[in-house]
Amino acid sequence: MATRIGIVTVSDRASRGEYEDRGGPAIQDYLGEVLTCPFESICRVISDDQSLIEQTLRDLSGPEGCCLVVTTGGTGPAPRDVTPEATEAVCQKLLPGFGELMRKVSLEKVPTAILSRQTAGICGRSLIINLPGQPRAIRECLDAVFAAVPYCIDLIEGPYLTTDESKVKAFRPKK
Ligand code: MTE
Repeated sequence: MATRIGIVTVSDRASRGEYEDRGGPAIQDYLGEVLTCPFESICRVISDDQSLIEQTLRDLSGPEGCCLVVTTGGTGPAPRDVTPEATEAVCQKLLPGFGELMRKVSLEKVPTAILSRQTAGICGRSLIINLPGQPRAIRECLDAVFAAVPYCIDLIEGPYLTTDESKVKAFRPKK
């Protein structure tokens, strides 16, 4: 089976077509630049509805067979921001280091980085990573954590991801 990666834009307004989704395409562009292995992306644009987010994450991790699912949006403190709750609800293991590092790096760019509750975790055989909704946050956050993503996917018995080392050097501890 080809390597599949899920990209989920969580936004009430983008899902209603009130504005164009810029986050999903930014994630797709980033992955296309960094990954040197072939992959297929499965993109969804959904509202900030916790049960819909959970259902989408379970579908992409399970039947859709994505080894990685990247979300954008819904990580802040507003009443409708529930992406981290949905992620925590579907994951068997949380990886809080992803959120910690992304916030640390983002704080060097914007003081409001502390408002993002973004996290990551393992759902079945898929790594789920939350990103904030701001399109510029996507590169800032993925650059911070991506070196660890291929090895994480090795550990959950997913496909062997390779990267363009001039952009991101995947770190795999020697066995
Ligand atoms: N992180 C980065 N790297 N760049 C940003 O512009 N915006 C912040 C924060 N993290 C931002 C960022 C802001 S303004 C908010 S409110 C939170 O992410 C949550 O955003 P979200 O609710 O769209 O996910």
